[in-house]
Amino acid sequence: MPGPALARAVRLRRLAVPQKDEILRRKLYGLLHAHVSADRARREWGERDRSVLNAVARHTLGHPRMTRLDALLYVADYSSPDRRYAGAARVRRLASHSLEEALRETVRGKLLHAAASGGYLHPAAVRLWNALPGSRP
Ligand SMILES: [Fe+2]
Repeated sequence: MPGPALARAVRLRRLAVPQKDEILRRKLYGLLHAHVSADRARREWGERDRSVLNAVARHTLGHPRMTRLDALLYVADYSSPDRRYAGAARVRRLASHSLEEALRETVRGKLLHAAASGGYLHPAAVRLWNALPGSRP
């Protein structure tokens, strides 16, 4: 779905995307697809399992209290075999023995990429990073 269509869907459906106004102002439409997808899964496919819908909604930005299912989808999305960016292969290796380590590396990779490219650091991703075991107090 093209970015403007995602923005329209978020407005029309009044989806609760964290920092929605900031995302729309910056035209970071790609950050909306997870919430739009969760909404469509509920409305069009009849998915009612809250844990599944949450995992879909959280697979891009994460959440400070990720369930195991949330983490699985978040890591799988970042490290699927078609991902060619640096970090995906490393996360695939980590995921073969530790979901926690793979999750941490995924969050780190996303934040570093956003910072290195001068992009927006979404507060949900920062909160997730700070909530992970091993983050310094
Ligand atoms: Fe996605």
